[in-house]
Amino acid sequence: MADTGQQRAQLLATRPRDQPGPLTYRKQESAGAAPAGHPVREFLSASRNIYAGMGRVDVAVVGGCGHVGLPLALAFASRGLKVAVYDISQAAVELVNSGRMPFQEPGADKVLVEVLANGRFGVGTDPSVLGTADNVVVVIGTPIDKHLNPEALGVPQEIEKLAPHLAAGQLLVLRSTLYPGVTRMVERLLEQRGQQVDVAFCPERIAEGRAMTELFSLPQLVSGRTAEIRARAAALFSKLTSEIVEMEPEEAELAKLFTNTWRYIKFATANQLYMIANDFGLDYDKIRTALAHNYPRAQDLPGAGLAAGPCLLKDTMQLAAFNNNQFTLGHSAMLINEGLPLYTVARLERRFDLGRMTVGILGMAFKGESDDIRSSLSYRLKRILQFKSRRVLCTDPYVSIDPNLVPLEQVLREAELLVIGAPHHQYRDLQVSVPVVDLTNLRGQGSGV
Ligand SMILES: NC(=O)c1ccc[n+]([C@@H]2O[C@H](COP(=O)([O-])OP(=O)(O)OC[C@H]3O[C@@H](n4cnc5c(N)ncnc54)[C@H](O)[C@@H]3O)[C@@H](O)[C@H]2O)c1
Repeated sequence: MADTGQQRAQLLATRPRDQPGPLTYRKQESAGAAPAGHPVREFLSASRNIYAGMGRVDVAVVGGCGHVGLPLALAFASRGLKVAVYDISQAAVELVNSGRMPFQEPGADKVLVEVLANGRFGVGTDPSVLGTADNVVVVIGTPIDKHLNPEALGVPQEIEKLAPHLAAGQLLVLRSTLYPGVTRMVERLLEQRGQQVDVAFCPERIAEGRAMTELFSLPQLVSGRTAEIRARAAALFSKLTSEIVEMEPEEAELAKLFTNTWRYIKFATANQLYMIANDFGLDYDKIRTALAHNYPRAQDLPGAGLAAGPCLLKDTMQLAAFNNNQFTLGHSAMLINEGLPLYTVARLERRFDLGRMTVGILGMAFKGESDDIRSSLSYRLKRILQFKSRRVLCTDPYVSIDPNLVPLEQVLREAELLVIGAPHHQYRDLQVSVPVVDLTNLRGQGSGV
Protein backbone atom coordinates (compact mmCIF):
# COMPACT_ATOMS: atom_id res chain seq x y z
CA MET A 1 0.00 0.00 0.00
CA ALA A 2 1.68 3.22 -1.12
CA ASP A 3 2.08 5.87 1.53
CA THR A 4 1.28 8.89 -0.62
CA GLY A 5 0.55 12.27 0.87
CA GLN A 6 -2.85 12.26 -0.82
CA GLN A 7 -3.85 8.93 0.70
CA ARG A 8 -2.67 10.09 4.06
CA ALA A 9 -4.59 13.32 3.79
CA GLN A 10 -7.75 11.38 2.85
CA LEU A 11 -7.24 8.99 5.70
CA LEU A 12 -6.64 11.72 8.21
CA ALA A 13 -9.55 13.80 6.99
CA THR A 14 -11.94 10.91 7.55
CA ARG A 15 -10.59 9.82 10.92
CA PRO A 16 -13.60 9.02 13.05
CA ARG A 17 -15.79 11.87 13.98
CA ASP A 18 -18.47 9.23 13.69
CA GLN A 19 -18.86 8.09 17.24
CA PRO A 20 -21.42 9.26 19.72
CA GLY A 21 -20.48 12.55 21.41
CA PRO A 22 -18.40 12.99 24.52
CA LEU A 23 -18.32 10.10 26.92
CA THR A 24 -20.94 10.27 29.59
CA TYR A 25 -20.94 7.89 32.48
CA ARG A 26 -23.60 5.30 32.76
CA LYS A 27 -25.64 4.99 35.88
CA GLN A 28 -26.09 1.25 35.75
CA GLU A 29 -25.03 -0.88 38.69
CA SER A 30 -21.79 -2.75 38.25
CA ALA A 31 -20.79 -5.90 40.05
CA GLY A 32 -19.56 -5.18 43.54
CA ALA A 33 -21.10 -1.69 43.69
CA ALA A 34 -22.04 -0.47 47.12
CA PRO A 35 -25.81 -0.91 47.51
CA ALA A 36 -28.11 1.61 49.16
CA GLY A 37 -27.64 1.48 52.92
CA HIS A 38 -24.07 0.27 52.53
CA PRO A 39 -21.66 2.00 54.96
CA VAL A 40 -19.76 3.50 52.01
CA ARG A 41 -22.85 5.26 50.69
CA GLU A 42 -23.92 6.34 54.15
CA PHE A 43 -20.48 7.79 54.78
CA LEU A 44 -20.44 9.55 51.42
CA SER A 45 -23.84 11.11 51.74
CA ALA A 46 -22.85 12.37 55.19
CA SER A 47 -19.70 14.10 53.95
CA ARG A 48 -19.48 16.86 51.35
CA ASN A 49 -15.72 17.22 51.47
CA ILE A 50 -14.68 13.74 50.68
CA TYR A 51 -11.03 14.32 51.54
CA ALA A 52 -11.92 15.62 55.01
CA GLY A 53 -10.33 13.60 57.74
CA MET A 54 -7.81 11.92 55.48
CA GLY A 55 -4.94 14.12 56.67
CA ARG A 56 -1.71 13.58 54.75
CA VAL A 57 -1.92 11.05 51.96
CA ASP A 58 0.76 8.93 50.34
CA VAL A 59 -0.42 9.47 46.78
CA ALA A 60 -2.72 11.89 45.00
CA VAL A 61 -3.74 10.88 41.48
CA VAL A 62 -4.66 13.66 39.05
CA GLY A 63 -7.07 12.23 36.49
CA GLY A 64 -7.74 9.47 38.97
CA CYS A 65 -11.21 8.60 37.66
CA GLY A 66 -9.87 7.69 34.21
CA HIS A 67 -9.18 4.34 32.60
CA VAL A 68 -5.58 4.42 33.78
CA GLY A 69 -5.76 6.66 36.83
CA LEU A 70 -8.50 4.81 38.68
CA PRO A 71 -7.00 1.30 38.51
CA LEU A 72 -3.65 2.79 39.53
CA ALA A 73 -5.16 4.63 42.49
CA LEU A 74 -7.00 1.46 43.52
CA ALA A 75 -3.84 -0.60 43.18
CA PHE A 76 -1.91 1.74 45.48
CA ALA A 77 -4.77 1.77 47.99
CA SER A 78 -5.00 -2.02 47.88
CA ARG A 79 -1.35 -2.11 48.97
CA GLY A 80 -2.15 -0.07 52.06
CA LEU A 81 -1.30 3.42 50.81
CA LYS A 82 -3.55 6.35 51.60
CA VAL A 83 -4.75 7.65 48.25
CA ALA A 84 -6.60 10.80 47.18
CA VAL A 85 -8.09 10.91 43.71
CA TYR A 86 -8.54 14.29 42.06
CA ASP A 87 -10.53 14.53 38.84
CA ILE A 88 -12.38 17.32 37.04
CA SER A 89 -15.24 15.07 36.00
CA GLN A 90 -17.94 15.62 38.57
CA ALA A 91 -20.00 12.78 37.10
CA ALA A 92 -17.15 10.30 37.33
CA VAL A 93 -16.26 11.44 40.85
CA GLU A 94 -19.84 10.93 42.02
CA LEU A 95 -20.00 7.51 40.46
CA VAL A 96 -16.70 6.39 41.98
CA ASN A 97 -17.67 7.81 45.34
CA SER A 98 -20.82 5.75 45.28
CA GLY A 99 -18.69 2.65 44.87
CA ARG A 100 -19.22 2.18 41.17
CA MET A 101 -16.67 1.99 38.38
CA PRO A 102 -17.31 4.47 35.53
CA PHE A 103 -16.09 1.83 33.08
CA GLN A 104 -15.47 -1.87 32.95
CA GLU A 105 -12.21 -3.07 34.51
CA PRO A 106 -12.27 -6.64 35.85
CA GLY A 107 -11.39 -6.90 39.52
CA ALA A 108 -11.60 -3.15 40.18
CA ASP A 109 -15.18 -3.01 41.50
CA LYS A 110 -14.41 -5.15 44.50
CA VAL A 111 -11.27 -3.21 45.43
CA LEU A 112 -13.12 0.10 45.07
CA VAL A 113 -15.77 -0.89 47.60
CA GLU A 114 -13.12 -2.20 50.01
CA VAL A 115 -10.86 0.85 49.91
CA LEU A 116 -13.75 3.31 50.17
CA ALA A 117 -14.94 1.49 53.26
CA ASN A 118 -11.57 1.51 54.99
CA GLY A 119 -11.28 5.32 54.74
CA ARG A 120 -7.91 5.29 53.01
CA PHE A 121 -9.34 6.33 49.65
CA GLY A 122 -10.88 9.72 48.90
CA VAL A 123 -12.24 10.93 45.57
CA GLY A 124 -13.11 14.53 44.74
CA THR A 125 -12.80 17.58 42.57
CA ASP A 126 -10.80 19.81 44.92
CA PRO A 127 -7.21 20.30 43.67
CA SER A 128 -6.01 21.59 47.04
CA VAL A 129 -5.79 17.95 48.11
CA LEU A 130 -2.59 17.71 46.06
CA GLY A 131 -0.76 19.71 48.71
CA THR A 132 -1.40 16.95 51.25
CA ALA A 133 0.34 14.24 49.25
CA ASP A 134 3.91 12.95 49.35
CA ASN A 135 3.56 11.80 45.73
CA VAL A 136 1.40 13.36 43.03
CA VAL A 137 0.76 11.20 39.97
CA VAL A 138 -0.60 12.89 36.84
CA VAL A 139 -2.43 10.62 34.41
CA ILE A 140 -4.76 12.86 32.46
CA GLY A 141 -5.54 12.14 28.80
CA THR A 142 -3.06 13.15 26.12
CA PRO A 143 -5.16 13.06 22.97
CA ILE A 144 -4.41 14.17 19.47
CA ASP A 145 -6.44 17.19 18.35
CA LYS A 146 -9.13 17.28 15.66
CA HIS A 147 -6.42 17.70 13.04
CA LEU A 148 -4.66 14.67 14.51
CA ASN A 149 -1.75 16.66 15.88
CA PRO A 150 -0.47 15.76 19.35
CA GLU A 151 -1.54 18.22 22.00
CA ALA A 152 1.97 18.28 23.38
CA LEU A 153 1.35 21.27 25.61
CA GLY A 154 -1.71 19.79 27.30
CA VAL A 155 0.10 18.24 30.27
CA PRO A 156 2.43 21.22 30.97
CA GLN A 157 -0.55 23.59 30.79
CA GLU A 158 -2.55 21.50 33.25
CA ILE A 159 0.45 21.26 35.57
CA GLU A 160 0.90 25.02 35.44
CA LYS A 161 -2.71 25.37 36.64
CA LEU A 162 -2.14 22.82 39.39
CA ALA A 163 1.27 24.19 40.40
CA PRO A 164 -0.08 26.48 43.16
CA HIS A 165 -1.35 23.35 44.92
CA LEU A 166 1.97 21.48 44.79
CA ALA A 167 4.21 21.50 47.86
CA ALA A 168 7.99 21.66 48.19
CA GLY A 169 9.69 18.30 48.45
CA GLN A 170 6.97 16.39 46.64
CA LEU A 171 7.57 13.82 43.95
CA LEU A 172 5.54 14.64 40.84
CA VAL A 173 5.13 11.53 38.69
CA LEU A 174 4.03 12.06 35.10
CA ARG A 175 2.24 8.92 33.95
CA SER A 176 0.29 10.06 30.91
CA THR A 177 1.85 9.06 27.61
CA LEU A 178 3.93 12.12 26.75
CA TYR A 179 5.12 13.74 23.58
CA PRO A 180 8.93 13.52 23.81
CA GLY A 181 10.38 16.50 25.61
CA VAL A 182 7.38 17.17 27.83
CA THR A 183 9.09 15.89 30.99
CA ARG A 184 11.88 18.43 30.42
CA MET A 185 9.26 21.11 29.82
CA VAL A 186 7.54 20.34 33.12
CA GLU A 187 10.88 20.37 34.97
CA ARG A 188 11.66 23.82 33.57
CA LEU A 189 8.19 25.10 34.29
CA LEU A 190 8.46 24.19 37.96
CA GLU A 191 12.06 25.47 38.18
CA GLN A 192 10.97 28.80 36.74
CA ARG A 193 8.23 29.02 39.31
CA GLY A 194 10.83 28.34 41.98
CA GLN A 195 9.08 25.16 43.06
CA GLN A 196 11.24 22.44 44.52
CA VAL A 197 9.40 19.43 43.23
CA ASP A 198 11.10 16.29 41.92
CA VAL A 199 9.75 15.31 38.51
CA ALA A 200 9.69 11.70 37.33
CA PHE A 201 8.18 10.13 34.24
CA CYS A 202 6.90 6.59 34.79
CA PRO A 203 4.74 5.53 31.85
CA GLU A 204 1.72 3.29 32.18
CA ARG A 205 1.84 0.17 30.03
CA ILE A 206 -1.20 -1.84 31.13
CA ALA A 207 -3.81 -3.00 28.65
CA GLU A 208 -7.37 -1.99 29.47
CA GLY A 209 -9.19 -4.95 30.96
CA ARG A 210 -6.02 -6.32 32.55
CA ALA A 211 -5.07 -3.37 34.74
CA MET A 212 -5.72 -5.03 38.08
CA THR A 213 -3.30 -7.83 37.29
CA GLU A 214 -0.75 -6.09 35.07
CA LEU A 215 -0.16 -3.24 37.53
CA PHE A 216 1.28 -5.86 39.85
CA SER A 217 3.08 -7.98 37.28
CA LEU A 218 4.55 -5.75 34.56
CA PRO A 219 8.00 -4.26 35.07
CA GLN A 220 7.73 -0.52 35.72
CA LEU A 221 9.81 1.89 33.66
CA VAL A 222 11.00 4.64 35.98
CA SER A 223 12.79 7.76 34.85
CA GLY A 224 14.04 10.96 36.43
CA ARG A 225 16.84 13.42 35.95
CA THR A 226 18.83 12.23 38.97
CA ALA A 227 19.50 8.93 40.71
CA GLU A 228 17.70 10.31 43.76
CA ILE A 229 14.54 11.07 41.81
CA ARG A 230 14.63 7.66 40.17
CA ALA A 231 15.06 6.07 43.60
CA ARG A 232 12.03 7.95 44.94
CA ALA A 233 9.90 6.85 41.98
CA ALA A 234 11.21 3.29 42.25
CA ALA A 235 10.29 3.21 45.93
CA LEU A 236 6.74 4.27 45.09
CA PHE A 237 6.22 1.73 42.32
CA SER A 238 7.90 -1.03 44.33
CA LYS A 239 4.66 -1.02 46.31
CA LEU A 240 3.07 -2.51 43.21
CA THR A 241 5.66 -4.49 41.31
CA SER A 242 9.00 -6.13 41.95
CA GLU A 243 10.72 -5.23 38.69
CA ILE A 244 11.82 -1.64 38.19
CA VAL A 245 13.71 -0.53 35.08
CA GLU A 246 15.49 2.80 35.39
CA MET A 247 15.93 5.12 32.43
CA GLU A 248 16.51 8.74 31.48
CA PRO A 249 13.26 10.69 30.96
CA GLU A 250 13.70 11.08 27.21
CA GLU A 251 14.46 7.35 26.89
CA ALA A 252 11.30 6.54 28.83
CA GLU A 253 9.20 8.92 26.71
CA LEU A 254 10.35 7.15 23.57
CA ALA A 255 10.08 3.73 25.22
CA LYS A 256 6.36 4.26 25.82
CA LEU A 257 5.72 5.48 22.28
CA PHE A 258 7.83 2.64 20.84
CA THR A 259 5.84 0.12 22.90
CA ASN A 260 2.53 1.19 21.40
CA THR A 261 3.87 1.84 17.93
CA TRP A 262 5.46 -1.60 17.78
CA ARG A 263 2.15 -3.19 18.68
CA TYR A 264 0.28 -1.06 16.16
CA ILE A 265 2.72 -1.98 13.38
CA LYS A 266 2.43 -5.67 14.26
CA PHE A 267 -1.34 -5.42 13.88
CA ALA A 268 -0.88 -3.64 10.56
CA THR A 269 1.46 -6.38 9.35
CA ALA A 270 -1.16 -8.96 10.20
CA ASN A 271 -3.89 -6.95 8.52
CA GLN A 272 -1.88 -6.49 5.34
CA LEU A 273 -1.00 -10.20 5.21
CA TYR A 274 -4.70 -10.87 5.77
CA MET A 275 -5.64 -8.76 2.75
CA ILE A 276 -3.01 -10.51 0.59
CA ALA A 277 -4.27 -13.97 1.54
CA ASN A 278 -7.88 -12.92 1.22
CA ASP A 279 -7.40 -11.38 -2.23
CA PHE A 280 -5.77 -14.67 -3.25
CA GLY A 281 -8.84 -16.56 -2.08
CA LEU A 282 -7.13 -18.05 0.97
CA ASP A 283 -7.81 -17.89 4.68
CA TYR A 284 -5.19 -15.84 6.54
CA ASP A 285 -5.94 -17.32 9.91
CA LYS A 286 -5.50 -20.87 8.65
CA ILE A 287 -2.13 -19.93 7.18
CA ARG A 288 -1.09 -18.08 10.33
CA THR A 289 -2.02 -20.95 12.59
CA ALA A 290 -0.08 -23.39 10.42
CA LEU A 291 3.07 -21.30 10.13
CA ALA A 292 3.14 -20.51 13.84
CA HIS A 293 2.66 -24.13 14.87
CA ASN A 294 5.65 -25.03 17.05
CA TYR A 295 7.64 -22.33 15.29
CA PRO A 296 8.97 -20.00 17.98
CA ARG A 297 9.85 -17.08 15.72
CA ALA A 298 6.27 -16.56 14.56
CA GLN A 299 4.41 -16.79 17.84
CA ASP A 300 3.86 -13.04 17.93
CA LEU A 301 2.22 -12.77 14.50
CA PRO A 302 -1.25 -11.45 15.43
CA GLY A 303 -4.54 -12.37 13.88
CA ALA A 304 -6.28 -9.85 11.65
CA GLY A 305 -8.84 -7.47 13.10
CA LEU A 306 -9.91 -3.91 13.70
CA ALA A 307 -6.88 -2.39 15.43
CA ALA A 308 -8.02 0.72 17.22
CA GLY A 309 -8.60 2.19 20.66
CA PRO A 310 -7.51 5.27 22.53
CA CYS A 311 -3.75 4.69 22.41
CA LEU A 312 -2.17 2.81 19.52
CA LEU A 313 -3.06 5.09 16.63
CA LYS A 314 -2.58 8.31 18.57
CA ASP A 315 0.78 7.26 19.95
CA THR A 316 1.96 6.25 16.49
CA MET A 317 0.82 9.73 15.38
CA GLN A 318 2.76 11.31 18.24
CA LEU A 319 5.91 9.50 17.21
CA ALA A 320 5.41 10.46 13.56
CA ALA A 321 4.93 14.12 14.51
CA PHE A 322 7.98 13.98 16.76
CA ASN A 323 10.05 12.65 13.85
CA ASN A 324 8.96 15.54 11.56
CA ASN A 325 6.41 13.25 9.92
CA GLN A 326 9.20 11.02 8.61
CA PHE A 327 7.78 7.70 9.71
CA THR A 328 7.03 5.57 6.67
CA LEU A 329 6.35 2.42 8.65
CA GLY A 330 4.07 4.21 11.11
CA HIS A 331 2.11 5.98 8.39
CA SER A 332 1.76 2.75 6.43
CA ALA A 333 0.45 1.04 9.55
CA MET A 334 -2.16 3.78 9.95
CA LEU A 335 -3.29 3.40 6.33
CA ILE A 336 -3.60 -0.36 6.67
CA ASN A 337 -5.31 -0.50 10.06
CA GLU A 338 -7.59 2.45 9.45
CA GLY A 339 -8.30 1.14 5.95
CA LEU A 340 -9.50 -2.31 7.03
CA PRO A 341 -13.17 -1.29 7.40
CA LEU A 342 -13.17 0.13 3.86
CA TYR A 343 -11.42 -2.96 2.52
CA THR A 344 -13.95 -5.19 4.26
CA VAL A 345 -16.92 -3.35 2.84
CA ALA A 346 -15.37 -3.27 -0.65
CA ARG A 347 -15.00 -7.04 -0.50
CA LEU A 348 -18.56 -7.42 0.73
CA GLU A 349 -19.82 -5.38 -2.18
CA ARG A 350 -18.42 -7.99 -4.54
CA ARG A 351 -20.32 -10.79 -2.84
CA PHE A 352 -23.57 -9.14 -1.86
CA ASP A 353 -26.07 -6.65 -3.13
CA LEU A 354 -25.42 -4.51 -0.08
CA GLY A 355 -27.74 -1.71 -1.15
CA ARG A 356 -30.71 -4.02 -0.56
CA MET A 357 -29.49 -5.54 2.68
CA THR A 358 -29.70 -4.93 6.40
CA VAL A 359 -26.26 -5.45 7.90
CA GLY A 360 -25.65 -6.07 11.59
CA ILE A 361 -22.44 -5.14 13.40
CA LEU A 362 -21.74 -7.26 16.46
CA GLY A 363 -19.51 -5.45 18.96
CA MET A 364 -18.86 -1.70 18.88
CA ALA A 365 -16.10 -1.48 21.51
CA PHE A 366 -12.57 -1.07 20.25
CA LYS A 367 -11.68 -4.60 21.32
CA GLY A 368 -13.19 -7.79 22.70
CA GLU A 369 -14.63 -7.87 26.24
CA SER A 370 -14.35 -4.08 26.53
CA ASP A 371 -16.95 -1.33 26.91
CA ASP A 372 -14.59 1.35 25.58
CA ILE A 373 -15.65 2.81 22.22
CA ARG A 374 -12.94 5.46 22.03
CA SER A 375 -11.56 5.47 18.46
CA SER A 376 -13.29 2.17 17.77
CA LEU A 377 -13.13 1.20 14.11
CA SER A 378 -16.52 -0.48 14.42
CA TYR A 379 -17.91 3.03 14.13
CA ARG A 380 -16.02 3.65 10.93
CA LEU A 381 -17.36 0.36 9.64
CA LYS A 382 -20.83 1.48 10.62
CA ARG A 383 -20.47 4.77 8.78
CA ILE A 384 -19.29 3.10 5.58
CA LEU A 385 -22.08 0.55 5.76
CA GLN A 386 -24.65 3.27 6.37
CA PHE A 387 -23.62 4.65 3.01
CA LYS A 388 -23.42 1.35 1.16
CA SER A 389 -26.19 -0.81 2.60
CA ARG A 390 -29.91 -0.38 3.08
CA ARG A 391 -29.73 -0.33 6.86
CA VAL A 392 -27.22 -0.95 9.62
CA LEU A 393 -28.01 -2.30 13.07
CA CYS A 394 -25.36 -2.21 15.78
CA THR A 395 -25.21 -4.00 19.09
CA ASP A 396 -22.80 -4.47 21.97
CA PRO A 397 -23.47 -6.12 25.33
CA TYR A 398 -20.99 -3.92 27.20
CA VAL A 399 -21.45 -0.47 25.65
CA SER A 400 -24.11 1.54 27.45
CA ILE A 401 -23.33 5.09 26.32
CA ASP A 402 -24.49 4.81 22.70
CA PRO A 403 -28.26 5.29 22.48
CA ASN A 404 -28.30 4.03 18.89
CA LEU A 405 -27.40 0.46 19.79
CA VAL A 406 -30.12 -2.18 19.63
CA PRO A 407 -30.45 -5.53 21.40
CA LEU A 408 -28.61 -8.51 19.96
CA GLU A 409 -31.91 -10.31 19.43
CA GLN A 410 -33.11 -7.57 17.10
CA VAL A 411 -29.91 -7.71 15.09
CA LEU A 412 -30.15 -11.47 14.79
CA ARG A 413 -33.79 -11.23 13.76
CA GLU A 414 -33.42 -8.49 11.16
CA ALA A 415 -29.88 -8.57 9.74
CA GLU A 416 -29.21 -10.45 6.52
CA LEU A 417 -25.45 -10.24 6.96
CA LEU A 418 -23.39 -9.93 10.14
CA VAL A 419 -19.95 -8.41 10.67
CA ILE A 420 -18.14 -8.96 13.96
CA GLY A 421 -16.64 -5.64 15.00
CA ALA A 422 -15.43 -6.37 18.53
CA PRO A 423 -14.83 -10.11 19.03
CA HIS A 424 -16.68 -10.51 22.31
CA HIS A 425 -16.79 -14.11 23.57
CA GLN A 426 -20.55 -14.25 23.43
CA TYR A 427 -20.48 -14.12 19.63
CA ARG A 428 -18.31 -17.23 19.38
CA ASP A 429 -21.08 -19.78 19.55
CA LEU A 430 -24.03 -17.75 18.30
CA GLN A 431 -26.37 -19.82 16.18
CA VAL A 432 -27.01 -17.81 13.02
CA SER A 433 -28.36 -18.59 9.61
CA VAL A 434 -26.90 -15.60 7.75
CA PRO A 435 -23.28 -15.08 6.58
CA VAL A 436 -20.90 -13.78 9.27
CA VAL A 437 -17.75 -11.78 8.53
CA ASP A 438 -15.30 -12.77 11.24
CA LEU A 439 -11.92 -11.08 10.66
CA THR A 440 -10.38 -12.51 13.83
CA ASN A 441 -11.78 -16.00 13.22
CA LEU A 442 -13.48 -15.88 16.61
CA ARG A 443 -15.93 -18.56 15.54
CA GLY A 444 -13.31 -20.87 14.07
CA GLN A 445 -15.06 -20.95 10.71
CA GLY A 446 -12.58 -18.88 8.76
CA SER A 447 -11.57 -15.24 8.63
CA GLY A 448 -12.11 -14.52 4.94
CA VAL A 449 -14.41 -11.92 3.51
N1 LIG B 1 -6.36 3.67 28.27
C1 LIG B 1 -5.28 2.89 28.23
O1 LIG B 1 -5.36 1.68 28.02
C2 LIG B 1 -3.91 3.48 28.47
C3 LIG B 1 -2.83 2.63 28.70
C4 LIG B 1 -1.58 3.19 28.95
C5 LIG B 1 -1.43 4.56 28.94
N2 LIG B 1 -2.48 5.39 28.69
C6 LIG B 1 -2.30 6.83 28.75
O2 LIG B 1 -2.80 7.27 29.99
C7 LIG B 1 -3.31 8.61 29.85
C8 LIG B 1 -4.74 8.65 30.34
O3 LIG B 1 -5.53 7.84 29.49
P1 LIG B 1 -6.95 7.31 29.93
O4 LIG B 1 -7.36 6.29 28.94
O5 LIG B 1 -6.95 6.95 31.37
O6 LIG B 1 -7.82 8.63 29.74
P2 LIG B 1 -9.26 8.90 30.36
O7 LIG B 1 -9.87 9.94 29.52
O8 LIG B 1 -9.97 7.62 30.60
O9 LIG B 1 -8.92 9.51 31.80
C9 LIG B 1 -8.44 10.79 32.01
C10 LIG B 1 -9.08 11.34 33.27
O10 LIG B 1 -8.46 12.59 33.56
C11 LIG B 1 -9.46 13.52 33.94
N3 LIG B 1 -8.89 14.83 33.72
C12 LIG B 1 -8.67 15.46 32.53
N4 LIG B 1 -8.08 16.64 32.74
C13 LIG B 1 -7.91 16.76 34.07
C14 LIG B 1 -7.36 17.78 34.89
N5 LIG B 1 -6.86 18.88 34.39
N6 LIG B 1 -7.34 17.57 36.22
C15 LIG B 1 -7.85 16.45 36.76
N7 LIG B 1 -8.39 15.44 36.03
C16 LIG B 1 -8.43 15.63 34.70
C17 LIG B 1 -10.66 13.14 33.12
O11 LIG B 1 -11.85 13.61 33.69
C18 LIG B 1 -10.56 11.60 33.13
O12 LIG B 1 -11.26 11.05 34.22
C19 LIG B 1 -3.13 8.97 28.39
O13 LIG B 1 -1.92 9.66 28.24
C20 LIG B 1 -3.05 7.62 27.71
O14 LIG B 1 -2.35 7.68 26.49
C21 LIG B 1 -3.74 4.88 28.48
